[in-house]
Amino acid sequence: MAKKRRTRFICSNCGWETSQWLGNCGSCGQWNTLEEVVIPDESGQKSHKSRLRSHGTDAVKPYSLDEIPVSEADRLQIGMGELDRVLGGGLMPGSFVLLGGDPGIGKSTLALQCASMLTGQKTLYVSGEESLAQIRQRAHRLDIHAKHLRMYTETEIMQIIETVRSEKPGVLIIDSIQTVYHSALQSMPGTTAQIRECAALLMQLAKQEKVTVIGIGHVTKDGDLAGPRILEHMVDTVLQFEGDKQSHHRILRTLKNRFGPAQEVGVFEMDNGGLREVSNPSELFLSEFDPSVSGNAVVCSMEGTRPLLIEIQALVTPTSYGMPQRTASGFDHRRLSLLLAVLEKRCGWQFSQHDVFLNVAGGMKLTETACDLGVASALVSSLSGKAAMEPVVMIGEVGLGAEVRRVTQLVRRLEEAQAMGFSHAVVPQGYTEDSNILKVSAVRNIDDALKKSGLI
Ligand SMILES: Nc1ncnc2c1ncn2[C@@H]1O[C@H](COP(=O)(O)OP(=O)(O)OP(=O)(O)O)[C@@H](O)[C@H]1O
Ligand SMILES: [Mg+2]
Ligand SMILES: [Zn+2]
Repeated sequence: MAKKRRTRFICSNCGWETSQWLGNCGSCGQWNTLEEVVIPDESGQKSHKSRLRSHGTDAVKPYSLDEIPVSEADRLQIGMGELDRVLGGGLMPGSFVLLGGDPGIGKSTLALQCASMLTGQKTLYVSGEESLAQIRQRAHRLDIHAKHLRMYTETEIMQIIETVRSEKPGVLIIDSIQTVYHSALQSMPGTTAQIRECAALLMQLAKQEKVTVIGIGHVTKDGDLAGPRILEHMVDTVLQFEGDKQSHHRILRTLKNRFGPAQEVGVFEMDNGGLREVSNPSELFLSEFDPSVSGNAVVCSMEGTRPLLIEIQALVTPTSYGMPQRTASGFDHRRLSLLLAVLEKRCGWQFSQHDVFLNVAGGMKLTETACDLGVASALVSSLSGKAAMEPVVMIGEVGLGAEVRRVTQLVRRLEEAQAMGFSHAVVPQGYTEDSNILKVSAVRNIDDALKKSGLI
């Protein structure tokens, strides 16, 4: 029987659908993002209907809020502090967690380690990327011999769902979401239509069978999760690996969490035995800090609910030819340009004939404006060649008039500085509390801050 075919065009960025090809998306406006998808009419509709029906009867009945049984105690604690932290205190049963990151950064490793630690839970690890032998080899290297862990190499989503319904695992790991496909859709695995459909089915499975789904996702070269943007909207939690592959440190950041604070970070170290949590990240980020070298500064950034002390390094050298270069790793380019402009215009430090390199230690990405003051002082220190000598933590946002602006949670930041053995902190004006161990200098502007920290 010849099937009636329907062709749709789906935006790979936002998931918008249209029956006609267009150069740019009618919803998000991106160019060249519409992908053609052939959907066999009947099975498409059938699967949609059966999906609606399979919700069962109790799911459609309204409940009053108090009637719904739920408790925080239900959370599955994995037992790896840094991982539990980014999840908001552990895995929420029946939730869908997306774990993204660059190729080879350690996604499968983390998923396998996490599965092995959930000893009370039957876990099904579905791999579409590696053979059973390869997984076994990794498990052997990581010294994992977990009886509750079942391995399965399958990529057809309906098959996976059937297996989950019969095996009833508590945790399902999908490695990776880009390799699973729905045979009713005629596009290749990894395309927008496939990812969208498979993720929707997995989300339903999670809610209906109360199975916690951990889906591994690839990222594009821009660092976004591959696949439609709506993937991120659909799932409950999005975790992303950051950090550079050359170093041993891996940073796991919560980009979204329906069950906990977002922007939380967990820090890990990768070695032969897998990922190990780093319980005191400030210590790690400061491990090579030397206050007697010019261009170095220490900032305090709130990463989620935790303050972290991080070393910043600047290198300012005369430009040998042409346009001066500005290179920043772990810090926003435009913010760097803005700080350089403020230093030139308001404070008289000339960078226009200099190349500027800025580096954040340990592969961290700083997004908080509270790090501005530290970056500005590292830049000045490298330009002048004068080091602070005495270790000092610089906290404050820099305004366009070179004024040092207030930041949130100053007390928590100072406590962290104190705990890490610092004896001096430069903070925005308005700080009045007495701190008896740490010397706190409240400053109005950059010049003031540079004087107080001994840089001029
Ligand atoms: N024998 C080994 N000794 C030490 N580290 C290893 C060894 N084998 C692998 N690794 C580490 O594990 C990393 C690969 O981990 P993993 O396979 O979990 O990454 P992934 O994110 O799942 O990659 P992919 O995107 O390819 O699936 C390597 O980059 C390396 O750092
Ligand atoms: Mg992998
Ligand atoms: Zn779009």
